[in-house]
Amino acid sequence: MSSTWVSETDARVCLVTGGSRGIGAAVVRRLAAQGSLVFLNYCRSREAAEQVREEVRRSGRGRVETIEADVSDPEAVRQMFQVAGSATGRLDVLVHGAAPPLVPRRLAKCDWRCDILPHLEVACAGFLHCIQAARPLLGTGSRVVVLLTDALFHTPPVQMGPYLAAKGALWGLVRAAAKELLPQGIFVNAVSPGMTRTELLRHYPDRALEIIAQDHPLGRLAEPDEVAAAVVLLAGCGSRYTTGANLVVNGGAEF
Ligand SMILES: NC(=O)c1ccc[n+]([C@@H]2O[C@H](COP(=O)([O-])OP(=O)(O)OC[C@H]3O[C@@H](n4cnc5c(N)ncnc54)[C@H](OP(=O)(O)O)[C@@H]3O)[C@@H](O)[C@H]2O)c1
Repeated sequence: MSSTWVSETDARVCLVTGGSRGIGAAVVRRLAAQGSLVFLNYCRSREAAEQVREEVRRSGRGRVETIEADVSDPEAVRQMFQVAGSATGRLDVLVHGAAPPLVPRRLAKCDWRCDILPHLEVACAGFLHCIQAARPLLGTGSRVVVLLTDALFHTPPVQMGPYLAAKGALWGLVRAAAKELLPQGIFVNAVSPGMTRTELLRHYPDRALEIIAQDHPLGRLAEPDEVAAAVVLLAGCGSRYTTGANLVVNGGAEF
């Protein structure tokens, strides 16, 4: 199957995992605003997903269809892409942003099955299931963008071991996918945000987030839409010579 879109004004077919909230929802809004048909995947937040769909409907630009699926379940993911594929038979953009909430925990207190495996299941198994099920729909010019974290590449906050383990392994999968899919003209890239104001951080005390924001050169955390802008950039037809790359979007936190 060949992807046929040639400009940002063409209607594209997109699927965003973890699209019900935070950064994923902001990506859905931006892709829809470009006139795309966006399949919004969610796991538990049906109401939030429907809200995004309704918002886009009212904007009169683009279209959103919601699909419930736990990305760690290969059969659910297969069915999700079957639904998405039945609409147009192709997928121009796949964004993998699904992630379980971050619960701060020192490695000394971590249990492999309870604390680390759930992150690996959603980040890594979720990506693998999506890439496998989406493969027949992806073609020349299709873009895959995966959300990592800047904590992999710069000093990480404390107590993020399980999350970092999963994102580190996911970065390996992204690079492998970029290599394997390049001959088919499918580009796979990552975006690594700094701390961003979303529900992912709900288990972090407000005071801790305030201190992190105060220490940041810009004096604040990122907003979801600021990260979404970078995702959409790599998902766009302007990124014609970029694959296997990682775009850090942390407002210059290390400067
Ligand atoms: N916020 C940050 O500071 C930050 C920093 C760096 C990187 N990131 C990355 O950016 C991405 C988006 O994060 P966010 O902050 O926007 O998170 P968020 O607001 O907590 O949203 C997480 C999304 O993932 C979905 N999800 C969770 N488990 C799922 C599963 N098993 N199957 C399908 N969907 C599932 C949730 O859907 P339901 O609610 O329906 O379950 C929700 O839509 C993540 O990959 C995160 O690691 C975030």
